[in-house]
Amino acid sequence: MRQSLRIGIFGTSGMAREAGDIAFACGLEPVYVARDEVELNAWKYHHKVILEKNVTQYTGVPFVIGVGENKIRKAIAERFKNILKFTNLIHPSATFGYQQREEIQQSEGVIVAAGVRLTSSISVGDFCIFNQNVTVAHDSVVENYVHIAPGANISGNIHLKAGCWVGAGAVINQGGNTNKLIIGENTIVGSGAVVIKNCESDAVYVGVPAKRIK
Ligand SMILES: CC(C)(COP(=O)(O)OP(=O)(O)OC[C@H]1O[C@@H](n2cnc3c(N)ncnc32)[C@H](O)[C@@H]1OP(=O)(O)O)[C@@H](O)C(=O)NCCC(=O)NCCS
Repeated sequence: MRQSLRIGIFGTSGMAREAGDIAFACGLEPVYVARDEVELNAWKYHHKVILEKNVTQYTGVPFVIGVGENKIRKAIAERFKNILKFTNLIHPSATFGYQQREEIQQSEGVIVAAGVRLTSSISVGDFCIFNQNVTVAHDSVVENYVHIAPGANISGNIHLKAGCWVGAGAVINQGGNTNKLIIGENTIVGSGAVVIKNCESDAVYVGVPAKRIK
């Protein structure tokens, strides 16, 4: 396999292997990165895995971070941002509105899984994860290190602040043209929640309609 057809994927968990699936769908050969010997020794798949401390031997390879936890993904990105080249990894079945794919290409480290749909005029930060079958509608803003879990639907005019996490199957109702609905920094929206108004930062919201529980 030629070096140029490889992609490095930080992590060895389920999220990393799902990123690996996207890589395969793109015709790329994943090289997984284990944090330590324990993770390396626990690896039971036949794909190549290397230790994080040896990652600089792969500076010619583009990387993504296949870690769902936003804070860990951020820590890895910051540790290696001046050392490695991060790329975007976009499943071929993802679909995009007008110039939306080009917009994502301005960012780095973004993972877009199978079945995702981003429509129109959406701004996307670095190291975001759009998990399987997520939809994001018009005029939304997705800041750095956001993770949107499988099947969540983000309506139009939503602002997802840095590090927030939207659970599987959650729905965020639309915001207004001049006052987007805001999900605060590092906030978690639980699976299946329906968010109808702004969510504060560093909080946890669940239920229909979503209420703050932490
Ligand atoms: C919201 C969430 C983060 C809360 O986790 P937690 O902080 O560990 O909270 P707990 O499990 O202690 O639950 C606290 C309360 O919220 C309730 N609750 C938890 N998750 C809920 C959800 N998704 N919807 C409704 N209620 C929920 C619990 O029943 C519990 O209620 P109680 O105090 O009346 O017993 C978690 O339950 C969740 O929904 N995670 C998302 C899972 C997901 O989308 N995974 C996709 C992986 S890619």
